[in-house]
Amino acid sequence: MSDPSSNDPIALTQALASFEDLWSPRIVTRVNDYDVRVAKVAGEHVWHAHDDTDEFFLVLDGELRIALREDGTERTVTLAKGSVFTVPRGVEHRPYAPSGASILLFEPTGTLSVGDRHEEIPDHVDATTGHALG
Ligand code: NI
Repeated sequence: MSDPSSNDPIALTQALASFEDLWSPRIVTRVNDYDVRVAKVAGEHVWHAHDDTDEFFLVLDGELRIALREDGTERTVTLAKGSVFTVPRGVEHRPYAPSGASILLFEPTGTLSVGDRHEEIPDHVDATTGHALG
């Protein structure tokens, strides 16, 4: 279960139950050059942008909000459980989850969780390209 290249099924509920860290994605499998990552989140992430890749979000549980800065204005999208949203490359965004959420991310292997540009990283945010499942 810890090897992303293994060919065994991964139960996402089990994967999520195997760690407690917030804003610290685990890689559950890979698809071509992409990681499928899951994360537990609560509170605020950090404003950041991925210059070279879109970033896909699926909310597995709870509610995720994503603040976006586009064309000089700011808006927030709210994703209920079961919703998907893709942040376009280059767009500054800050995910947050006032009541907590579990999310699935789909993005190129090596993508940094805090992007290529970011504000100062608070202690509760893990700057990572994703961890193996424990
Ligand atoms: Ni991002």
